[in-house]
Formats: sequence, C-alpha cells, structure tokens
Amino acid sequence: MPIIKAQDVQYCTLQCPDLDIQEQFLIHFGMHTVEKNEDMLLMKGDGNQPFIEKIIKGDKKFISISFVASSMDDLKKISQTEAFSDIEELSTPGGGFVSKGTDLDGFGVEVVFGIEELKNYSAETIPTNEGRVINRKNQMKRFLKGSSPRILRFAHCGLNAIDPLKSFNWYHEHLGLLASDKLFLGDPKDPATPLQGIFSRLDKGAEPADHHTIFFLSAPMLSEGKPVMNHVSFEMFNIDDVFTGREMLEANKEEFNYFQEWGIGRHYQGSQLFDYWRNPFGQTHEHQTDGDMFDNTFPTRELNVMVDEAGLGKEMAESQWGPSISNTFGNKENG
Ligand SMILES: [Fe+2]
Repeated sequence: MPIIKAQDVQYCTLQCPDLDIQEQFLIHFGMHTVEKNEDMLLMKGDGNQPFIEKIIKGDKKFISISFVASSMDDLKKISQTEAFSDIEELSTPGGGFVSKGTDLDGFGVEVVFGIEELKNYSAETIPTNEGRVINRKNQMKRFLKGSSPRILRFAHCGLNAIDPLKSFNWYHEHLGLLASDKLFLGDPKDPATPLQGIFSRLDKGAEPADHHTIFFLSAPMLSEGKPVMNHVSFEMFNIDDVFTGREMLEANKEEFNYFQEWGIGRHYQGSQLFDYWRNPFGQTHEHQTDGDMFDNTFPTRELNVMVDEAGLGKEMAESQWGPSISNTFGNKENG
C-alpha cells in the first residue's frame, strides 16, 4: 500500500551554468520569466501553474521533480517517512508547503501542497474541424505569424535510473505511481530479456491521468551507468504549438546553439505528438500534446519494443510516424 497517492506534478528544478542562456532558451521554447536573481530563475508557461521550471545556477544537473499531494494530511504523512524532510513553507510565487526527499538514484523529489494556481489564464484553443466533426463554424483558425508556442503545464520527466524496476517500486511505495508500460528488449515472457524502461503514471482513482509522469530508463543502457535526467517535458496547448515551437527553435538554433534531439513524431507509448530539443548545455526539453489518459483500472502492459507495437510493420519502430530515435537520446550529456 503506497504511503500517499500524488495527484499531479507542479514543476521541475534543473541546475544550469548560466541563467541568462537558459532564460533565453526557455523564452524561445515558449516560457515567460517570473523571477530572476543571481542564483535562481523561475519560468512559467501560459497555464495556471505559477512557475513550471526552476533553475539554480551551477554545474548542469537535474535537481528534482515536484509532485502535488492531495491534502495537507498527505504532505504530513510523506514528511514523516525516512526519505523525506520536515515540511517547510515555500517562498516562491503561489506560496504553499514542501517536503523534500531523495530517491534511490539521488534525484530530488519534492512533494508540495497549497500552491495557489494563477487565475488570469485561458486554456482555450481554437476548435478543430477533423473527420467532418465540425467544432468550428463561421470562425477561422489563425495564429499570429512568428508568435511563441504556448505551454499549458509541466507534465513529466524521464530519468535514467541505475535499476528502473527498483526505482519504479520506490515511487510506487512512496507516491502511488502505477506502471503503464514495461518495455523489454525482446520477449517479455523470457526472464533473460533485459528491461529497458517503465512508463509510470499517477493513481488518481477514476479520474484519468497522463499515460506517464515519470519514464524510468536504464542508466546502464543509455548513460554509461550514470543516473542522469533523460528529459523534462511540457504539455502544449495543441498540435499547432508543437509545430510553432519547432519553428521558433529552428529559426534560432544556429545563433543560440540549440539542437533538435528527436521529432516531430507520434509516440507509441503515451501516443503524444512529440518534439525534443537540447538547450546549449545539452539538457533535453520536450514539447508534447494529445497524449493518452488512463484511470487506475487500465492494466500494465509488457511490451517487446524490438517489434512494431501495432503489429503492422516489419521492423522495430520507435514511433508511429516521424524520424527514428536519435542515437544520443538520453545520453549522459543531459547531466
Ligand atoms: Fe517525454
């Protein structure tokens, strides 16, 4: 039985060597500056979270992911466990409270409660007319040419863990995460087949949750055994924002030293439309939208990722469409 069941994620915290460079990258990526001083930078999207990425000045490193507890009682519960600290008050925008922990790989895990949402925002998108389902009548679809991509929220992260199964179990026990998909490099029924990773989601009961909130990957397979961030991921308002995001980063990549890691494509596991970009320090940030949502009854699937998941193609396929996965995806350059 998990100690608590986290109900959402709030923001991620990274360490970067130069705050000005990261601020400029995140502005091109679609964020807005909330607060900045010599040691710390807070950036927001266009959704209701007061900030979605916190950056601390220092050597590049993944510091933490923050989860939202369902009540102050749950925050107290988690703060009384060995892995987590006493509750502190947050001084960042939106206020609230935090208990800070460390997972098996040394990654930080924050559990927060009481951060106030922003009120003056609109999640409205221009409706689609697809497959003759007419949601948009007498209205044109227009985006201001060259405008910034719109980010709805911080959504998930990928972590290269020394032992993905042990790490997943830790998050299950502490925060209630459920396994959506277990990925095997071969036949899942053969005990000798190596486990490549686990997609895990929040347990929100009957309420649907994102297919994954943490994607645990194998550090021995990807980052020479070093536990590093694989990527941090932000949900866009819609598909147009993924494409306008690519256009913005593409237009600035030479001058500012950005690198498109993988995209645009459509994932199998989670089904999102995705696009991954590295900042000038090599830390991968993802734009994605239109992902699968599962409640807590959806069973865990065990998949052989060496074959096409739909069973229609002849070859291994990393995505439903789009370029093949890069051979640097999730390497130790993410820090
Ligand atoms: Fe992702």
